[in-house]
Amino acid sequence: MIDSDGILSMIGNTPLIRLRRLIPEARFRLFGKLEALNPAGSAKDRSARGMIERALEKGKINSDTVVVESSSGNMAIGLAQVCGYWGLRLICVVDPRTTPQHLQLIRAYGAEIDYVAEPDPETGDFLVARLKRVRQLCSEIDNSFWPNQYANPDNCGAHYETTICEVVEALNGELDYLFVAVSTFGTIRGCAEYLRDQGMATKVIAVDAEGSVLFCNERKRRMIPGLGAGRRPELFDPSLVEEYVLVSDVDCIVGCRRLVAREAILAGGSSGGVVMAVERLKDRIPADGTCVAIFHDRGDRYLDTVFSDDWVREHFGDLEQSGQG
Ligand SMILES: Cc1ncc(COP(=O)(O)O)c(C=O)c1O
Repeated sequence: MIDSDGILSMIGNTPLIRLRRLIPEARFRLFGKLEALNPAGSAKDRSARGMIERALEKGKINSDTVVVESSSGNMAIGLAQVCGYWGLRLICVVDPRTTPQHLQLIRAYGAEIDYVAEPDPETGDFLVARLKRVRQLCSEIDNSFWPNQYANPDNCGAHYETTICEVVEALNGELDYLFVAVSTFGTIRGCAEYLRDQGMATKVIAVDAEGSVLFCNERKRRMIPGLGAGRRPELFDPSLVEEYVLVSDVDCIVGCRRLVAREAILAGGSSGGVVMAVERLKDRIPADGTCVAIFHDRGDRYLDTVFSDDWVREHFGDLEQSGQG
């Protein structure tokens, strides 16, 4: 088994911190798992390392392999770090929702960008268009490898083996509620399968985007990258989840701004959605219970979107005046 060295050895063991100010009236213990503290800035560092290192171990890839993956941002950065470390060429297929900061970071790590400018004409979805492009690139390039984060068991395996073990250990097994934002279903699936296998009764809550087709089939435009999906990934398994909460783009913005105002934590868009989901279910969490919210990434990548007043006004109007600020 490959034992990660160098920067990759810094992936995981992220802090789990007590949040006393976010919901001051809460009587339960609320914690945030800060995945931003991974070296390339998100929970995807774990999945990227898991998928590439397992593929190296199994001999599926070698030093000449070209890795091709579809990502709206964080997986691309996570893979760019891991592929950079192992000296592998990486092509990231992205779309217009990828933020300029994400694109700059992918390039800075030395990976290549393949930009899909138009959504799939049949479904109107960018993810569908990106996946078509990945298949095309893989058929054209010799010795190419598509990690396929949507179907790869090593994506959820990384969370089964690391993320949730860290949480359970830090809390001595006391975990009543776990809130997780969903897209490929890798994070939530790995966490939920571990809790099930350990016989724990933790209620796992999926936080999905309005307009995503994971839990509901009402596709609509979404502006927060990393949250929700335009196509059901193979890893999707709703039986592992107690329930889902749908959050809007505005919920994500309001939640992010509340998290930084009350806890001084600058986190990314999906974390804002998670904050609002906890707020929505707070009366159900027992007074002596323990609740963990996973915050997938850092807010620096959203300075031109979620944290930009101009961007918010342009797309959603004046949130203060509409009473949502
Ligand atoms: C910011 C952010 N939050 C949440 C998720 C969802 O994680 P998963 O794909 O493991 O379901 C992602 C995945 O891309 C993400 O980038």
